[in-house]
Amino acid sequence: MYKRFVIFAFLIFAAITLTTSAKAAEKNGFARLDHVTASKALPNGIEVRSGEATLVVTALREDVLRVRISATSELGEDASWAVLDEARKSQVAVKAANSEDAVGFTTAKLRVTIKRNPLEMTITDLDGHVISADLPGRPVEFHAGEFRAYKTSPPDEHYFGLGDKPGPLDRRNEAFSDWNTDAFGWQETTDPIYKSIPFFITFNKGVSAGVFLDNTWRASFDFNKEYRDGYSFGSVGGALDYYVFLGPEPKQVVETWAWLTGKTPLPPMWSLGFQQSRYSYYPEAEARRIASRLRAERIPVDVMYFDIDYQVHNRPFTVDAERFPHFDQLISDLKAQNIRTVLITDLHLAYLPNAGYKPYDEGAAGDHFIKNADGSTYVGVVWPGKAVFPDFTDKSARDWWGTLYKDFVSRGIAGFWNDMNEPAIFEVASKTMPDDVQHRINEPGFAKRVANQLEIHNVYGMENSRGTYEGLLKISPDTRPFVLTRASYAGGQRYAATWSGDNSATWNHLRQTTPQLINLGLSGFAMTGADVGGFARSPQPALLTRWLQVAAFHPIDRDHSANDTFQQEPWENGTQHDVALRREAIEERYRLLPYIYTVAEEMSRTGLPMMRPLFLEFPRGAADGGPLDGTDSNSFMLGDKLLIADSPYPDTPDTYAVALPSVGWYDYWTGATVGASGGRKAIDNTIVKQEEVKITPNPDVLPVYVKAGSIVPEQPLIQSTMEKPVGPLTLRVYPPVKAGGECSGSLYLDDGVSFAFQKGEYLRVSFTCSVGADGVTVKVSPREGKFAPWWSEFAVEIYGAMGEAKSAQTAKGALQTSFDSEHHRTRAVVADDGSGMELKVNY
Ligand code: NOJ
Repeated sequence: MYKRFVIFAFLIFAAITLTTSAKAAEKNGFARLDHVTASKALPNGIEVRSGEATLVVTALREDVLRVRISATSELGEDASWAVLDEARKSQVAVKAANSEDAVGFTTAKLRVTIKRNPLEMTITDLDGHVISADLPGRPVEFHAGEFRAYKTSPPDEHYFGLGDKPGPLDRRNEAFSDWNTDAFGWQETTDPIYKSIPFFITFNKGVSAGVFLDNTWRASFDFNKEYRDGYSFGSVGGALDYYVFLGPEPKQVVETWAWLTGKTPLPPMWSLGFQQSRYSYYPEAEARRIASRLRAERIPVDVMYFDIDYQVHNRPFTVDAERFPHFDQLISDLKAQNIRTVLITDLHLAYLPNAGYKPYDEGAAGDHFIKNADGSTYVGVVWPGKAVFPDFTDKSARDWWGTLYKDFVSRGIAGFWNDMNEPAIFEVASKTMPDDVQHRINEPGFAKRVANQLEIHNVYGMENSRGTYEGLLKISPDTRPFVLTRASYAGGQRYAATWSGDNSATWNHLRQTTPQLINLGLSGFAMTGADVGGFARSPQPALLTRWLQVAAFHPIDRDHSANDTFQQEPWENGTQHDVALRREAIEERYRLLPYIYTVAEEMSRTGLPMMRPLFLEFPRGAADGGPLDGTDSNSFMLGDKLLIADSPYPDTPDTYAVALPSVGWYDYWTGATVGASGGRKAIDNTIVKQEEVKITPNPDVLPVYVKAGSIVPEQPLIQSTMEKPVGPLTLRVYPPVKAGGECSGSLYLDDGVSFAFQKGEYLRVSFTCSVGADGVTVKVSPREGKFAPWWSEFAVEIYGAMGEAKSAQTAKGALQTSFDSEHHRTRAVVADDGSGMELKVNY
């Protein structure tokens, strides 16, 4: 009896204490979700209360959960700049799963368990793999609008993503904050830089999940710094609204991320060609000199960029007629040289009242500029001097901005570059607008309201590029826009490609391109590149050469440099040998374009990045269950077939090790098999087992490997995608190392520029191969789609061959073959009438 009384008294005391502390806490804007006070099952999830605070977990799909937490009973506005409406509004029915200790639910793939006291939420798959668990003893807390959520971090869990943040590929043991920043001269340790993508992928022994904090304010992430066994995310304002989704394959996580926030659209093919840029090519004669030299040097190229100096006093949407007296003629002359033009069009419009500057006049008349807290127009100093800034979160301002491109489009400009859109502001310590400037939100799905810079800053650049993209689509509905943006937020891949900003012409910056571009791709931005050769400072000849070699396998290959550096075009700054190597690298990219474009199409359909970490392709490739991409690795994959394995220190002669998943690999350049077996005797069933190859850096050769079981389409060399290749389509066949092993490839093609592909004007072919006791069989499927190919023959090249083939035939009869011992290949040319074919080569 006495015992019961004590327990009863204690419970009363605890309840009073908790209620009082909750009340006191509320007063200070404080809330702690430390125990469940009430819960309610929802058809698609659960609602839980902890005192005044609310936690709602809903299932959007069987494998996708949304978690919304608030310090009060109100969850706040349900709107997002990042998450697509269809995704955010999806729901599936769940099964409640409550017990004495916990409340929760299950879907067909996930289990949510919320322990009552202390309140701790754990999300597992149905096999019990934990994909997210609150860190014991660290409940979610709100402090006057700020919040932080803590999760456990098992020792062998790894983290990837978060956009363009410098540093190692794996985010473990790092901490970051999100505040889009003009970061000229950034280094590996600089944070934040240009973009905010508060999304990361967890990877734990082959099981992956995605975590996305949909918060545009100054958010931050801490992986194992504060707590060795924990990570956390939080923000200084806005809602605690996050998504957790199960892979378990990392590729599924990336695809689900694309389902949530959209895919990179199919880019124009020319944007995958070589791009030549500099800050800046002027006057006109200089631009002509560069174009002519590119052609004279036979450097394949598709695009030239014009940076700010083509404008009158850096005023966006003007052309300096003194520097460019025949601008339109120049654009069409470049086009005649098969070179397209991209113009920079920054968002800071010159503050020029009554001066006949149309962008200012129209913007002012339409009330499209950002305002100060007192209602006056905000004016900041950037390249044009005093400038005003369109209010891009107001749809009408965005729509108006889009119309500014009409004139340039009609003058034949192919693409546009939105720079400085963090937004960068000069002459102020914050490097950006004041916190209290007013953005009008006028956007379907959002309440019409005014928000300050703290809330909008990180989405401002994305909405700028959106205005450009959507404007271009309205102007030319049948042309795929090309927009390059520097700042963005999650989901920005829907509107623009991006680059890693103002890097430096140093070896460590070349090394940094690998983790940085990979993490951007995992975060949705699959069309990415770094300034090739480095932006700040001038590269050593060997650095420029190696950078051009590596970038030939990046999604975007753009040579760009700052105005105070030495010229950095491929023929500059190097011996004839250097120039030859640089030319060869770019040429190889053009030969590979059928493959690269096919990878780009896959990206636009699935959301998978073009440039990939090894763990994405081989999640169980490492013996210890960790990611294959070790801390000292500088390897990446282009699509699922090519592995580029530069030394992390290519400036040194040091031998380095490359981890090759044991599926068999070929040397891309020699066609020889790679690894422990030392090459195969013939195409047979030899099993090549190689986990690691040792490479001694050779400045002339970038190590590139092809996965055994691949068919890679290539084309004859062209100097621009405006040229039609002449000759057969080459199918490079790399047979599997085991009989019965998989072997496949595909090709996607269309006109490269329009949306006709959406109406069937495309071409898709798939390839397979198989290894038998006496040879190799290659099959090509019938063509799908209405687009007519440029070739009428296939040149089939079978690699790994060690001698002449005995015979070769298709259903139409016997064929001649040739053997190239230097490249270990057998070649046969087969007519292609689109109906598919089967080629058998006997050894
Ligand atoms: C900063 C950009 O990052 C750089 O690429 C550009 O050349 C300069 N602005 C000048 O426009």
